[in-house]
Amino acid sequence: MAQAKSMWQAAEDAEHQQMKELGDKIVTKSLLFHLADGALPRTNTPVPGAPRKQVLMGTDPRLPPMPEKPTLMDFFNNRFTIGGDQHLMQSANLAQKNGLPEKMVLACLLHDFAVNGFIRSDHGYWGAQLLEPYVDEEVSWAIRYHQALRFYPDESVGYGYPDLYVKLFGEGYRPEPYIERAYEFAKSHKYYMSARMICVNDLYSFDPNVVVTMEQFEDIIGRHFKQPEEGLGNDNTSSSHMWRTLIRPCNAL
Ligand SMILES: [Fe+2]
Ligand SMILES: [Fe+2]
Repeated sequence: MAQAKSMWQAAEDAEHQQMKELGDKIVTKSLLFHLADGALPRTNTPVPGAPRKQVLMGTDPRLPPMPEKPTLMDFFNNRFTIGGDQHLMQSANLAQKNGLPEKMVLACLLHDFAVNGFIRSDHGYWGAQLLEPYVDEEVSWAIRYHQALRFYPDESVGYGYPDLYVKLFGEGYRPEPYIERAYEFAKSHKYYMSARMICVNDLYSFDPNVVVTMEQFEDIIGRHFKQPEEGLGNDNTSSSHMWRTLIRPCNAL
């Protein structure tokens, strides 16, 4: 009973906090956001305050505003983890120095798009799916499979298992079976080396004094990212809904 009361109190407190920020609107959270906090909410828990108050639908005033016709750069600027673009720009910069073709520079620039701009878990798959309608199939394929290939060395191009992974995942970490299967499948695919090139240029230990800016890649984005005229999310592709969710992540429905 006391526990139920404290849960209710916590919900009321959260509601009051939100109301301060959002006037009379209640912000709902997707299950995924709760799971990220290690909490499994009850399916029958009502939205606190509903139906006395309305829930947020549309623009979320807590987030940077997005233009009516958002471009890829608007997502980088207004929805990306702050500073998260440095790893991507440094990797693309290295790819450029190594003489990779432009579309592979773009692949390096976007390879961890999901880590910094959407969902970390299975980031290669999410990133590829988001970007698929707007880039060459080789680019999205490479982004999807770099996630698996990162775990497996390829001596032919001087790629070893990353030291960082030993630190992050521990000695002897073994990827999930589906990652192993993806690696086995990718090995004999015509785009294998493209995904591998993302791994080779995936730069974690860059010099913080070397500043790379997005201007360096504007032309490449212009030539190889098919920006829809009506704006990402407003078009009608297989991933438009994902871009819309990024624009309005707390829509109730
Ligand atoms: Fe990655
Ligand atoms: Fe990366």
